Amino acid sequence: MGKKQIFEATITANRPLSERYSMLTLQLPDTVGDIEVLPGQFVEIRVADSPSTYLRRPISICDYDSETRVMTLLIRRAGEGTDHLCNLPCGSKLDTVGPLGNGFSIPAPGSTALLAGGGIGVAPLMLLGKKMKDNGVTPRFLLGARTASEILLAEEFAAIGEVSVSTDDGSAGEKGYAADNSALDSRYDLVCTCGPKPMMVGIARKARRNGSPCEVSLENLMACGLGACLCCVEPTLKGNLRACVEGPVFNTEMLLWEL
Ligand SMILES: Cc1cc2nc3c(=O)[nH]c(=O)nc-3n(C[C@H](O)[C@H](O)[C@H](O)COP(=O)(O)OP(=O)(O)OC[C@H]3O[C@@H](n4cnc5c(N)ncnc54)[C@H](O)[C@@H]3O)c2cc1C
Ligand code: FES
Repeated sequence: MGKKQIFEATITANRPLSERYSMLTLQLPDTVGDIEVLPGQFVEIRVADSPSTYLRRPISICDYDSETRVMTLLIRRAGEGTDHLCNLPCGSKLDTVGPLGNGFSIPAPGSTALLAGGGIGVAPLMLLGKKMKDNGVTPRFLLGARTASEILLAEEFAAIGEVSVSTDDGSAGEKGYAADNSALDSRYDLVCTCGPKPMMVGIARKARRNGSPCEVSLENLMACGLGACLCCVEPTLKGNLRACVEGPVFNTEMLLWEL
């Protein structure tokens, strides 16, 4: 796993994807050297000198090119911190710590995988899909959102694998929740999911019913992001584990969810 570092990244592009979402492209400095980023890992970003954004904000690594040291992040405006990030112009510097946490598993070559993301939960699936494809795995994507304009990066995902879509209002793909999408009727060698907890529980339930192993990326509230404050703990079969260190990715067989 890549050793965590603290560095100053420079924003080289800020692309609004919709009213609520932006994609930031960051150039990492030469000093970070060769870091390996596992799909599912995240960075902690210091936002601004305001008391309400004193704590760093955890953001998933959407994509990373280790040769150019270019990282992309997908940001949803949830409050003051993420709003500030979405508004930053090119050239801004971001005080960043990472890569943090663990990553999703990559199944053996020749396997199939379903990567299901809801809303901002699609962020870690880009690097995951690319790594799977590079390793001879066939990834299929399931993207869920409230409405068509909030389906994120559909073209980019389609360049990696088949894409299925669910929207709450039926304006794109199948009408209804991602957990009810027909893509979940098949068995996969691995199902990976990230998004709102009710969606992940629904997907994990379907995966179990079809005999597919399932890994989820938890977005538990985090404070330190470094394993010290215990505010992110998740009850598991091995006791309380820290989502920021032992996670954010967990196999659902480890969790105490009612599936
Ligand atoms: C491992 C991990 C990866 C994440 N990846 C991304 C990502 O790629 N892109 C992205 O935009 N966001 C991501 N998040 C969520 C993001 O960290 C929060 O939305 C952000 O910290 C909110 O900060 P704020 O100052 O904008 O809002 P605040 O004013 O702090 O909070 C606004 C609202 O967001 C809620 N919120 C705060 N933290 C979280 C959280 N961890 N999860 C869900 N809701 C939260 C608060 O309860 C509140 O309702 C991730 C969270 C985790 C734990
Ligand atoms: S956020 Fe502090 S221990 Fe995880």
